[in-house]
Amino acid sequence: MASFSNGLLGTIVMLSLMVCIAQAQLSPTFYVTTCPNLQAIVASVMTQVVRQEPRMGASLVRLFFHDCFVNGCDASVLLDDTPTMIGEKNAVTNANSLRGYEVIDDIKSRVEAACRSTVSCADILALASRDAVTLLGGPSWTVQLGRRDARTASIAAANASLPPVSDGLSNLVARFAAKGLSLRDLTALCGAHTVGAARCANFRPHVYNDSNVDPGFATLRKRTCPAAGGDDTLVGLDATSPTRFDVSYYRDLMARRGLLHSDQELFNGGPADGLVRLYSKNGEAFNRDFAAAMVKMGSISPLIGSAGEVRLNCRRAN
Ligand code: HEM
Ligand SMILES: *[C@@H]1O[C@H](CO)[C@@H](O)[C@H](O)[C@H]1NC(C)=O
Ligand SMILES: *[C@@H]1O[C@H](CO)[C@@H](O)[C@H](O)[C@H]1NC(C)=O
Repeated sequence: MASFSNGLLGTIVMLSLMVCIAQAQLSPTFYVTTCPNLQAIVASVMTQVVRQEPRMGASLVRLFFHDCFVNGCDASVLLDDTPTMIGEKNAVTNANSLRGYEVIDDIKSRVEAACRSTVSCADILALASRDAVTLLGGPSWTVQLGRRDARTASIAAANASLPPVSDGLSNLVARFAAKGLSLRDLTALCGAHTVGAARCANFRPHVYNDSNVDPGFATLRKRTCPAAGGDDTLVGLDATSPTRFDVSYYRDLMARRGLLHSDQELFNGGPADGLVRLYSKNGEAFNRDFAAAMVKMGSISPLIGSAGEVRLNCRRAN
């Protein structure tokens, strides 16, 4: 390890090793004897929720991403502020934007009723986000389990770790590499933007100022997103089918109809272009790579063994 101890490369190698070690200790059968109905409980709530409001499925996938990228998948994002701790809900990318907390509360209370003080909020989020993707028409995969919940959260870590929409491709690649995720993982995971919506405040800079935008698309988007005001007006991230987990996100990118600056960075003459082309015409490749990348993202430095705790209420430490 000593020879790796200097510089960014060393840090990335070490983080990747830590991710691998952690992955080996999570297990798909973690609750098989202690909470045999867990997956059925999560699936039944998610089925109802997504049927009622498809976008909520998208919101839960994003919630998992925003949990995992800040001190690992430890449900830190779910903690409410306390008098002594400002949590992650008000971080720059999360305030007035991240949603789905009540769905996790609902699942958690049913899981607690069935198996008291057994299943972590972090694992519930991992299962709920998998179910969301499947219910919206995307792939399914086996979820690794055994994460425990953090006792604290960090708004500073959230501000620093979550990618701003203004990031260029090299920044995005570096942020994902720091979590042990490759360019391929990044390109597949951004495919989550095949579902859900974004606010005018987030896509305004791209449609008004960037040059790699289809002019007709820019005109259309400016119509509901004025140069000033209307910050919260929502538009589907995927112009064609924002409630279907399909490959139209990649087709949009190839037509320069990505909604966010960060989206279009994946198809702008750089190293992700080939993957965007591949996924745009090969849904199986996308599904396979997306599922694999979600498992990888889900194993970012989890708390395991006796670290952390199993929260009774996902909004506060025990
Ligand atoms: C790579 C860098 C990324 C950036 C800069 C980014 C940025 C954003 C932004 C700005 C929004 C709209 C928020 C709003 O306007 O309120 C959004 C929504 C969303 N993001 Fe990302 N994102 C990234 C990666 C990801 C990843 C890796 C996933 C999941 C695997 C993901 C899943 C989602 C989903 C599903 C939505 C829609 C949520 C909803 O409708 O509630 N994003 N993202
Ligand atoms: C994080 O970002 C929020 C929202 O922009 C800001 O209010 C807060 O002061 C920031 N906090 C830290 C510690 O970076
Ligand atoms: C576009 O760029 C100009 C010049 O940098 C800046 O003043 C303006 O605020 C930007 N507009 C948007 C919508 O981002």
